[in-house]
Amino acid sequence: MGTTPNPNQPLRLGILLSGRGSNFLAIARNIREGKLPNVEIAVVISNVADAPGLSAAKDLGLPTALYVSKARPRADHDADLISCLRDYNVDLVCLAGYMRLLSPGFIAAFPNRILNIHPSLLPAFPGLDAQQQAFDYGVKVAGCTVHFVDEHLDHGAIILQRAIPVLESDDAHSLSERILVEEHIAYTEAVSRVAGGEYEIQGRRYIKRATA
Ligand code: GAR
Repeated sequence: MGTTPNPNQPLRLGILLSGRGSNFLAIARNIREGKLPNVEIAVVISNVADAPGLSAAKDLGLPTALYVSKARPRADHDADLISCLRDYNVDLVCLAGYMRLLSPGFIAAFPNRILNIHPSLLPAFPGLDAQQQAFDYGVKVAGCTVHFVDEHLDHGAIILQRAIPVLESDDAHSLSERILVEEHIAYTEAVSRVAGGEYEIQGRRYIKRATA
């Protein structure tokens, strides 16, 4: 079952990132431009000190936090993230290039409240370098997936996918760039659907509830 949106209370996002942060920036821009009404970014958290996405969030004047994960036990690191997200009253966690597996404790703390974006048409090509994997495999259609996060890598119920053809002229780099354009559209659309609350999750299936 989805959330019941409260028109008086914005849905508060907690963004987790490790790098460039272009998906985060696309969400932030769409919020600014009014394309995600009643959604706000509560905090941007990085596990990497020099992540460009973290400095971009600071430049935008958003609350940020840094918890360096390197060499720390996963459960300890994730406990810090959970308490930070709770301090900021986060409703929905958005992984935006967060390149670290979440612990079972983290998943349990936000049941069906964690989204991830992955640059392939899952279940094809989970894990690292998905675009390169797709290119090397020779697929003719590639794309991206936004899904709920469960305890397995790039695995939970799929909210939406966007597909593009692989062109004869593509290399892995150009394919990645064209997938990224789709990612920036897909993540905002998925957040919008979750914020609207008109959905159910049946097994692996995300089902949009019919509106009257
Ligand atoms: C994006 O392509 C995202 O789909 C991918 O990392 C990139 C982050 O870019 N995530 C994964 O591969 C997760 N398995 P960004 O920092 O510019 O948003």
